[in-house]
Amino acid sequence: MASIPSKNKTRVGAAKSGSFFSQWGMFFRQFVKHPGMIGSVIPSSATLVARILDQVDWRNTRLFVEYGPGVGTFTRSILDRLPADSTLLAIDLNLDFVAYLEAEIDDSRLRVVHGSAADVRRFIKEAGQHQADYILSGIPFSTLPDGVGAAICAETRAALRPGGAFLIYQYSRYVLRLLNPLFGDVSDTLEWRNIPPCRVIRAVKQAALAQAA
Ligand SMILES: C[S@@+](CC[C@H](N)C(=O)[O-])C[C@H]1O[C@@H](n2cnc3c(N)ncnc32)[C@H](O)[C@@H]1O
Repeated sequence: MASIPSKNKTRVGAAKSGSFFSQWGMFFRQFVKHPGMIGSVIPSSATLVARILDQVDWRNTRLFVEYGPGVGTFTRSILDRLPADSTLLAIDLNLDFVAYLEAEIDDSRLRVVHGSAADVRRFIKEAGQHQADYILSGIPFSTLPDGVGAAICAETRAALRPGGAFLIYQYSRYVLRLLNPLFGDVSDTLEWRNIPPCRVIRAVKQAALAQAA
């Protein structure tokens, strides 16, 4: 799948004000067109975004990868926290979302690519990077075609640095069966204040196991 090269951007933190309603409208239209790929009728809540991003060690984050940015619900908040010399690589399978983000967010730290999270290592290499400190995923694992979720989880583990974390928000527990054989340290909690309540999963690539990658 084609990757959209980053523009020669120089600005940091310049997100346009795409209104709340235009973001929700865009998101809903894409859900109607591709329900299995989007997996949710509405974007994530601000409460869920803060709950997940508050657990990141931002000072030591050089490369943050986001799978399934959609209309940028997490993307804008990641950029608010990301150090000035770090990179955010956002990967989405939906070309309309990629075009929307490219038009809405002008930030030299952001690289948006069109493609599957299963190709994350190729995208990291094309961005001139080596390994990710964090990978965040909003992909609906339980509705992906057979084998795709397992491939994404295996590639994600390989793409993380030792000690790096895979952060997942999800309505279903399905992804846990894919993560448990790959990651030594997997936690699963519920964010009740999201509508509907959402699982927040954290899988850490342990340093000892990382030698086998
Ligand atoms: C539930 S939406 C999350 C949107 C947004 N991050 C949020 O929190 O509101 C799922 C996103 O995953 C994307 N997606 C689905 N399968 C994917 C894949 N294999 N690789 C990358 N993105 C994918 C969809 O296009 C969509 O943007």
